[in-house]
Amino acid sequence: MAISPKHAKADPKAFYLAKDQDQLIERYDDAATVYDAAMESDVGWRGHLALAEVVARHVDPAATLCDAGAGTGMLGDQLAERGFKTMDANDLSEGMLEVARAKGVYRDCRVMALGKPLPYDSDTYDAVTVCGVFTPNHAPASSLDELVRITKPGGLILYTLRADEEPPEFAEKHRQLEQAGRWQLVEAGKPFPSIGSEPHIRHRCWVWRVS
Ligand SMILES: C[S@@+](CC[C@H](N)C(=O)[O-])C[C@H]1O[C@@H](n2cnc3c(N)ncnc32)[C@H](O)[C@@H]1O
Repeated sequence: MAISPKHAKADPKAFYLAKDQDQLIERYDDAATVYDAAMESDVGWRGHLALAEVVARHVDPAATLCDAGAGTGMLGDQLAERGFKTMDANDLSEGMLEVARAKGVYRDCRVMALGKPLPYDSDTYDAVTVCGVFTPNHAPASSLDELVRITKPGGLILYTLRADEEPPEFAEKHRQLEQAGRWQLVEAGKPFPSIGSEPHIRHRCWVWRVS
């Protein structure tokens, strides 16, 4: 993956190699203003486009939606184009959220950490989306417990996950939540090439209905 010098701060390697969460936040804060350009021109990230299509197929645009780990709002932008109007965003990085806020597609943008208790009431959202955040050094599989809690019964949780190298802790979490009767599988999408500059990498979009 070749990142042009003017987008160097948004090199995904820097995020994967951050030594702890504080450094990850620092790196995303620094990258925020060039993040979208780096993803579009250099990396060729397509996850937000694929997930937006899946969300549009399963969720009514009148839904109240939470975009978890929303970053600069690349997914939110796509959803706004498809008519979604009531979307809240959260992310670890205030810098990334500042860029998201400026796009004007979210009702509320707040710093919070997936994997920890979230300051939302239970059964708040019709749908929760997570795009490109269930990845090494970012949000753990255990984040799903809180996302299930904040989703209304009958609501959907939709997210991208590596398919060519599926993280085993997610397969385990999927099983655990299914066996506990907390959610049912709606769709495990077909793996698609998600990163133009790294054609071997595949993601899939998962859709679960909360009980
Ligand atoms: C690859 S970006 C994806 C951003 C956005 N979802 C999109 O579709 O463009 C990953 C984002 O996840 C955020 N992030 C990483 N770990 C997180 C965590 N534990 N809780 C919340 N956000 C996190 C980062 O700050 C960054 O904005």
